[in-house]
Amino acid sequence: MRLGILGGGQLARMMALAAHPLGITCAVLDPSADPCARPVASVIRGEFDDLQSLYELARASDVITYEFENVPVESARWLAERVPVFPSPDALEVSQDRIVEKNFFAKLGIPTPAFADVLSRDDFDRALRGIGLPAVLKTRRFGYDGKGQCVIRTEDQIEPAWTQLGGRPLIVEGFVEFDRELSSIAVRSQKGECRYYPLVENEHRDGMLYRSLAPAANTGEELTERACEFAERVLNELNYVGVLAIEWFQDGPRLIANEMAPRVHNSGHWTLEGAACSQFENHVRAVCGLPLGSTSAIGHSAMFNLIGQRPGFDTILQIPGTHLHWYGKETKPRRKVGHVTVAATSADERDHLAAELLLRHDFAIR
Ligand SMILES: Nc1ncnc2c1ncn2[C@@H]1O[C@H](COP(=O)(O)OP(=O)(O)OP(=O)(O)O)[C@@H](O)[C@H]1O
Ligand SMILES: [Mg+2]
Repeated sequence: MRLGILGGGQLARMMALAAHPLGITCAVLDPSADPCARPVASVIRGEFDDLQSLYELARASDVITYEFENVPVESARWLAERVPVFPSPDALEVSQDRIVEKNFFAKLGIPTPAFADVLSRDDFDRALRGIGLPAVLKTRRFGYDGKGQCVIRTEDQIEPAWTQLGGRPLIVEGFVEFDRELSSIAVRSQKGECRYYPLVENEHRDGMLYRSLAPAANTGEELTERACEFAERVLNELNYVGVLAIEWFQDGPRLIANEMAPRVHNSGHWTLEGAACSQFENHVRAVCGLPLGSTSAIGHSAMFNLIGQRPGFDTILQIPGTHLHWYGKETKPRRKVGHVTVAATSADERDHLAAELLLRHDFAIR
């Protein structure tokens, strides 16, 4: 079986590594000369809207998936007329635009922050009057790792936010004073079977994912069930196939949807060592029409991103239970270049090992 992947970054690389033992080979389409997945997949170099490149990918694939959601929907639709594409281009379309996405959640009865569409300066003022401060101004499309957003806490931050982002289609969201951030990593097979990894607790710093803990502590049955039930509504509504991530703000018993990603997700990287079957393998299994693997956690995991810096590998690997995933990319400021997981049998042991790890390496965003 041949799996085509739109995008050749680290997510594609980890998918290809998971596909290999299943006898599935991967081809990636990526505009860059030396994409991260190159050592483990064949590469078609081209833009995502270039028909010749899309044609080559279609010819090289029995099934096609994505590693990132900013592939033009028309390209995904064009491919889907030739080769099965999972998740469906509809899922891609919903997740590309924050307004479409929030309306989609609302339609399914899933809570979201207060939000308003902003096309003009008048809309912006009206939105702020309606929603109040603090608020967040974001671009509707193409945002990632906190790019294209401004938090507005005080009146004097309104003008600079508009200067920075005005002129593009925008969204204003009410700033949620959450207790913590969680994420659901779910997977649905071609036959419609849904499985869920335990909820993950995520800490962001400066708009970027800094650390994930899994399973999240003190989730309780009710919260876990609510998250699964919300995720299931999304999966079934989209007749979804593959791994889906939903980022939540938790406010007491409430789960408020921040955004979804129609792909494997950074907050699911711990599953490589910390779950019976990783998110990457389950995504590959789902899109290739194979039975799903177990989403149970094995013990307790922590995952730290390596952002903009290369640590001493020895320093990290000396600590028992740690695993290093270095993506082989050039190190640049605010670029995710690897991650480290700590896998332990108990939450206490995990926290102890994570503390030891942090003494040796700070994981600061550089
Ligand atoms: N409405 C909000 N209220 C409170 N915090 C928010 C809000 N929107 C965003 N944030 C904070 O900023 C982080 C990044 O926001 P968001 O997920 O919208 O951006 P992104 O650029 O798509 O991120 P990524 O692609 O890394 O997930 C969130 O995880 C959260 O910590
Ligand atoms: Mg996010």
